[in-house]
Amino acid sequence: MTDSAKFDTLLVESRVFKPIKEFSKGAHIKSMAAYRKMYNESVRAPAKFWGKVANEFHWFKKWKKVLDWKEPHAKWFVGGTTNISYNCLDRHLTTWRKNKAALVWEGEPGDSRTLTYQELHREVCKFANAMKNVGIKKGDRVIIYMPQTPEAAIAMLACARIGAPHSVVFAGFSANSLKDRILDTEATAVLTADGGFRRGNIVPLKASADEAIAECPSVKSVIVLRRTNNEITMKEGRDHWWHVLMQTASADCPAAKLGSEHPLYILYTSGTTGKPKGIVHTTGGYMCGTYLTSKYVFDLKDEDTYWCTADIGWVTGHSYIIYGPMLNGATSVMYEGAPNHPGPGRFWEIVEKYKINIFYTAPTAIRAFMKWGDEHPNSCDLSSLRLLGTVGEPINPEAWMWYRNVIGKKKCPIVDTWWQTETGTIMITPLPGATPTKPGTATLPFFGVVPDVVTPDGESVGPEGGGLLVVRKPWPAMLRTIWGDDKRYRKQYWSDIKGCYFTGDGARKDKDGYVWIMGRVDDVINIAGHRLGTMEVESALVAHPDVAEAACVGIPHEIKGECIAAFVTMKGENRKNVALEKELGQWVVKEIGAIARPDYMRFSAALPKTRSGKIMRRLLRDIASGSDQVGDTTTLEDVSVLQSLQQYQDE
Ligand code: WT7
Repeated sequence: MTDSAKFDTLLVESRVFKPIKEFSKGAHIKSMAAYRKMYNESVRAPAKFWGKVANEFHWFKKWKKVLDWKEPHAKWFVGGTTNISYNCLDRHLTTWRKNKAALVWEGEPGDSRTLTYQELHREVCKFANAMKNVGIKKGDRVIIYMPQTPEAAIAMLACARIGAPHSVVFAGFSANSLKDRILDTEATAVLTADGGFRRGNIVPLKASADEAIAECPSVKSVIVLRRTNNEITMKEGRDHWWHVLMQTASADCPAAKLGSEHPLYILYTSGTTGKPKGIVHTTGGYMCGTYLTSKYVFDLKDEDTYWCTADIGWVTGHSYIIYGPMLNGATSVMYEGAPNHPGPGRFWEIVEKYKINIFYTAPTAIRAFMKWGDEHPNSCDLSSLRLLGTVGEPINPEAWMWYRNVIGKKKCPIVDTWWQTETGTIMITPLPGATPTKPGTATLPFFGVVPDVVTPDGESVGPEGGGLLVVRKPWPAMLRTIWGDDKRYRKQYWSDIKGCYFTGDGARKDKDGYVWIMGRVDDVINIAGHRLGTMEVESALVAHPDVAEAACVGIPHEIKGECIAAFVTMKGENRKNVALEKELGQWVVKEIGAIARPDYMRFSAALPKTRSGKIMRRLLRDIASGSDQVGDTTTLEDVSVLQSLQQYQDE
């Protein structure tokens, strides 16, 4: 599918799906009137609204003030002390939920484990003590570079318990990416595993960690989970086996009393420059936000089995596998592996096996399922499903309809949820029992969220107008800063449009006020629902000794949404060279990770630039998408560059 076709269907989209009556009857929010009433209260008196939510939790000391806002810095529940691990676990132990499944885990090879709230609490307490025993303390940054196992969840909750901010690094990232994150956080500890399973292969996590840590003097201890049983080397005095530490760790570990603004975690995400940004999330506000969104967006009930297919290396895994569901006392399912291992029906087999009721995934996965064929979902019993969700990128209406018909059998509402690593929680979304949905739009704001679509001067655009997506008021789970770089925080989010948080997305509001996300307006590519800065990939390419210059652009991709096209100028000869394409591809994988490997590469003695030397990415995008016509070239310095690139294509 080409981008323009996608755009056309968006423009003519007029289907509206009213909430399903049966669903609305039992839902937390049953009607648009109920949504509007609560929404209006939430924006008219935010302190009252969020204060009430916070009161559902345990606070060691109650807050004095709900919100202290000095743009661009928010403090929520000022003066209060609490602990999110306590509220995810201990709080349920005095109720009937103590023996309810908290985590239901499926390993890629087919092994499985269930931990009740009581069991999870015990493991978390023991591991928190194990960390203390090797010298990890409140305030220390802890890197989690682990496969998607129960221990990864245990590690996060244990860090939260002792007040050591965690920074989860996606296990698909390379040693180099890991090193950058350790250096930036100045972490004192790394939690990892011998390896992780991916499509039946072993990903050698410990070996990558060793490579990274060799250049990171801040790291004093490494804790290693045994998962794949592959050979690894343990460094005396620095490295400890997880299971050995657990043998002697006490199960008694009272939760630390932490200020509401104590940093809970740092999570790296791509920006427009080469260096990823460490997004900082804190405790009290994030707790209220993830709790409330999980409850209302997924209409979570105690009897639900809920599965978010994300990886804990991304924000979705933080907010909607761990914190949000557990704050609700829900049963959260976690799967370790790939959606097509051992076969393309794996997800649907899991739905059938655990009788999943609520299923939350990404459009890129849905497009892959469509391609793999209906026979896979059709051969499983999916009748337990009652609600479907998506996140990560705009969903094309065709995929939305397939999701609704083939997976949801026309009886499940779909919640298309828009949010970001920075927002911490879902911001724009339907509420499944209330909001009429249209394929391709995330619809309306969640409680307390005041989004707008504006011109570069900050003026609201009228109905049907397109513009920049901003948020006008602070919200509890918003990022607080960029780790170690508050200046960049101000510049990145609070300087483009006066008085607003700028999301970096373009959007359109329709006549019903529904927000249609049109994608990023900056040089950020959304690959399979994950953000990558073009600069990041370019920096990786030019780090290769034979590369002189590189420019990367995002182009449409049938399954991944977007993929990377790289234009490279070599120091030597520049012409088509398959071996070199492969070599540079592997180079990028080593520098960043497989997610960043360009799908398309072209060598050129020069790149199209403006007279002031700026690379004209727009033209590169046109060329890479194979479009016959390229846009306006009047500002191009040397037209012959363009001609040679176009001829390359004809070869
Ligand atoms: C960017 C944020 C939120 C967790 C996963 C990605 C795009 C996200 C949607 C959606 C259209 C979406 C935006 C956003 N995006 N959800 N429902 N519809 N676009 O987190 O890596 O921080 O990326 O993903 O462009 O800015 P992230």
